[in-house]
Amino acid sequence: MNRDSCAVLVQACHNSGANSSGSARDEDDFVVECLFWHAIIHKDFIAHMQYEPTAMLPEPDKLSAKHSARVHAHILQKIEESGGQLSFAEFMHEALYAPGLGYYSAGSTKFGADGDFITAPEISPVFGRVLARQCAEVLADIEGGEIIECGAGSGKLAVDLLGALEKLNALPATYGILEVSPELAERQKKRLKEALPHLLDRVQWLSDLPRDFNGVIVANEVLDALPIERFVRRASGVYQLCVSTDCGEFVWTETKAPARLAAAVASIEADIGQALPEGFTSEVSLASTSWIADLAGCVQRGAVFLFDYGISRREYYAHDRADGWLRCHFRHHAHNVPLVYPGIQDITTWVDFSSIAHAAVEAGLDILGYQTQSQFLMGGGLEIEMRGFTDLPVARQLELSGQIKTLTLPGEMGENFKCMAVGRGDIVTPSAFHFADRTQTL
Ligand SMILES: C[S@@+](CC[C@H](N)C(=O)[O-])C[C@H]1O[C@@H](n2cnc3c(N)ncnc32)[C@H](O)[C@@H]1O
Repeated sequence: MNRDSCAVLVQACHNSGANSSGSARDEDDFVVECLFWHAIIHKDFIAHMQYEPTAMLPEPDKLSAKHSARVHAHILQKIEESGGQLSFAEFMHEALYAPGLGYYSAGSTKFGADGDFITAPEISPVFGRVLARQCAEVLADIEGGEIIECGAGSGKLAVDLLGALEKLNALPATYGILEVSPELAERQKKRLKEALPHLLDRVQWLSDLPRDFNGVIVANEVLDALPIERFVRRASGVYQLCVSTDCGEFVWTETKAPARLAAAVASIEADIGQALPEGFTSEVSLASTSWIADLAGCVQRGAVFLFDYGISRREYYAHDRADGWLRCHFRHHAHNVPLVYPGIQDITTWVDFSSIAHAAVEAGLDILGYQTQSQFLMGGGLEIEMRGFTDLPVARQLELSGQIKTLTLPGEMGENFKCMAVGRGDIVTPSAFHFADRTQTL
């Protein structure tokens, strides 16, 4: 997620564009203003790659503070019921997904300038349009092929994908949405009903992955939202970081790592060819391994497109990254203290794409390709989407070019965000991967 202040500035630029086109403002002023904003967006984003101290975070409003206090009390009770501590994955699960309370289960805005972060489909419809072209290539070869979107957020990608697939004459037989948050599922229904009422009968909300699925599965920024385990390497072994309480406040504790976590860390050390140094703290996503196995169990023939910010295992566990890749987002401020603001801030982590590839292969899937988001867009049809660009009003051209810069520039979302496609059966390799493929770097 480009979940930084730049999102606010992108919005400010867009808003100023909307104003300028509706008033007598001079277009040249608008061009200068947009270029100025973009310069700030870029600088600001790089600056925010360093985490902010929590003291710099804005105060939540009264309603949010009250909600967070309820989530805090709920987690305290869970800790008590579990005998004094929760693993970090359990804590993250409660903070994000506790029914009616968690960050994703309750009603906060989350996405966009008024929320906490912004994702690629929220930034630009171009993302969904290019992805639609890649889905269409796979679907063209699968009679009655379907699409499932996992974790559909606000429903923006579903609207863009279905709209673009309709134009390409490549609509799937059905469009299933697998969403763990009932609150977001309601938002998705409302959005699809408003934007594409004539396609609504194709859309189904699923409670589980089906068996024998033929078609395409897409998931944008779902892997980073799955609860992760935190660990610390000590000379005496691997320890699991847990959350306990002290005078009603959440505090970190360490306990000997359970077998599955210890085995995962041993496998990381075997892969990178050395033991992690004493005190090295990081994350392991055991949940994503299980999630990939579930996807593999569902697909009979087809492809799965996974988008997220992530890197190879070698980079993930590099010795200079001794405090891990955990990242929290509150009102477009990025920091790494997940124990504050429970239920009203997002908690995520970067993805170790080597482990995703490994889990996919273990589960019997083929790796179709791995590349940066920028390469995916460039190789996947961005150029075709840009045809007719110069016929648009200048304000719209600036708006679109700003969006495309945010999606593709290396200092923004272009390099850190990756696309991995895995699949099963005799299917075409999506053409984006003919343009570039970095699978060998994993
Ligand atoms: C960071 S948001 C991304 C939303 C959207 N894909 C986007 O790009 O704007 C993560 C989404 O994944 C959903 N989610 C989390 N765990 C999930 C799971 N196990 N299965 C399906 N959806 C999940 C969340 O409720 C939320 O909708």
